Amino acid sequence: MPGEPTIIGYVGLPITNVKFTIYLTRDCYVMLGEIVQVEDESMGVTILGQITDVKLMPLHEARHVSVDFLLRGFVDVDRLLITIANARVLGALDRAGKIISAWVAKPGLPVKRAEAGYVRRVLFVPDGLMIRIGSLIGNEDVDVTISANKLLRSCTIILGETGAGKTFTAAVIATELLRCKRDIAVIIFDEYGEYKDIIGINREEVIYIRGEEIGLDISELGAHALSRMLNLTEVQTRILDEALSTLPPGARSIHDIINAVKELRGAHPVAKSSLCRRLYSLLEYLTPEGRIKYVTEIVKPGRISIIDLRGLNTEAKQLLVAWVLNSALKLRMQNKLSPILFVLERAGLYASPEEDAVSKPVLQEAVSKGRMLQVGLIMIERRPADVDSKIMSLCDIALIHKIGNPYDQRMLAKGLSPITYEVLKEISLLGPGEAVLCGCVVRSPIVIKITRGLMMRTPRKA
Ligand SMILES: Nc1ncnc2c1ncn2[C@@H]1O[C@H](COP(=O)(O)OP(=O)(O)OP(=O)(O)O)[C@@H](O)[C@H]1O
Ligand SMILES: [Mg+2]
Repeated sequence: MPGEPTIIGYVGLPITNVKFTIYLTRDCYVMLGEIVQVEDESMGVTILGQITDVKLMPLHEARHVSVDFLLRGFVDVDRLLITIANARVLGALDRAGKIISAWVAKPGLPVKRAEAGYVRRVLFVPDGLMIRIGSLIGNEDVDVTISANKLLRSCTIILGETGAGKTFTAAVIATELLRCKRDIAVIIFDEYGEYKDIIGINREEVIYIRGEEIGLDISELGAHALSRMLNLTEVQTRILDEALSTLPPGARSIHDIINAVKELRGAHPVAKSSLCRRLYSLLEYLTPEGRIKYVTEIVKPGRISIIDLRGLNTEAKQLLVAWVLNSALKLRMQNKLSPILFVLERAGLYASPEEDAVSKPVLQEAVSKGRMLQVGLIMIERRPADVDSKIMSLCDIALIHKIGNPYDQRMLAKGLSPITYEVLKEISLLGPGEAVLCGCVVRSPIVIKITRGLMMRTPRKA
C-alpha cells in the first residue's frame, strides 16, 4: 500500500527555473531518470523534476548546507562529502491540481519520490483513446501512454544510433495502436526485412508483401513528381502531363503511359521520343507484372501490412513509397480508405536534405496534410542530419534513442526545439530500448523505457 512518500533530500543551490539541486540523504539512492516532487506548502505548489545526474561533492563546495544537515545525516562526516543530484523541472501543480507553467523551487524544501498521480497529470496530455508504449524510468508504476488520435494526426520521428531500439519502438507503437483501434490500417515500409520476425507473420492481422509483388501505377504520381525523378525538361513535363490526362482511370502500366505520349497530337516528335526513352528507363525499377495493382490491396483496416523492400533498388523503393503514400492521401481525401499509420524506416533515403527523390514532395505533403486526413507517419532514421530539416521541423512527436556522437547531438538540438542541453546529456546516457519522448504528447521531454512485451499481446476485440 503506498504510504506517505519518504523524504530523500532537500533542495539545495543552485536553482534556476529549469533545474534544481538536491542534497540527498546519506543512505538514499535515486536513479537517473527518476521523478521527484518538491512541495512548497506555503504557496500550495508541487514541483516535479527528473533526476539528470547524481554525484559526490566535497562539503565545502556545497552552498546552503547547514549544521542541521550534518545532524540529520546528510553528510558523510568521515570524508566530508555530500551526495547531490540535479533535477530538470518537468512542471508544477497548484492545490487544485491545475498545471502551472513555471515555478522555481526554494532552497531547503523537502524532496520526495514523486506520486504516480501527480506524474501522470503533469506529464501526459490526455486526448481520447490512449495507447501504452512503455513506462517511466525510475517510476515503473507510471505507464507512458500516448494519444491514438495524436499519432494519427502527427508526424513522429524516431532517431538513435544503430542498435538503440528504434525498430522495436516503432513495432510496439504500431502493434499497440492496432490492438486498441481496429478501424485503422498500419503500413510498414520494412527497409531491412526485420518486422517479419519482430511482429510475426503467422497472425491473422498481419499481411506480408514483398516489394517486387507490387506492380505500381506510376501515373498516379503525376507529371511533376516524375519530372524530378527523370530529370525532364519543361517541354517534356508538359507533354507527360497532357498524356496522363488522356488516360482512362484504373491501374495503368508504363506501356499505357508511353502509348499515350506517342499518340498525343501536336507535341514535338523529338521531345516525345526522348520522353518515351526516359519512361522506358523506369522499367528497370518497376515490376509491371506484379500481382498487386491497387493501394486498396495493401491498406486494409484492422491489418498491419509489412512491405519488405529488400528486393528493390533505391529508385524502385522511392517510387513505391511515393506511390503508396500519394494514392493513400488521395483516397483518404475522398473518404475511400480508413485512417492509416505509416512506418518508414530509413527516412533519409526518401527525404534526404540534398537529393530531390520522387518521394520527397510526397512525404512533404503527407507531413503537412496527413494531420487533417488522419494519415499518421512514423519516420525512422539513425542520424538527424540525414532527414530534410524542413520535414523534420514539422514532426510533432519525437522519440530519441541514444545518440552519443557530438555532431549528431548538435544537429538534433538544431532540428528539434524541445531538445535542450540538459536533454542532450540524458540522450547520450540512454540504454537499449530507452528513449526521450518529446513533442505534443507530453508537456516536457521525458525519459522512458519501451516495453517490448506489449508486441506479443493478442488484438483487442472491436
Ligand atoms: N525496448 C527494448 N527493451 C530491451 N531491449 C531492446 C528494446 N528495444 C530494442 N532492444 C534490443 O536492442 C536490439 C536492437 O534493437 P533495434 O533493432 O530496434 O535497434 P535499431 O535502433 O532499430 O538499430 P538499427 O539502426 O541497426 O536498425 C534488439 O535486438 C533488442 O535486443
Ligand atoms: Mg532498426
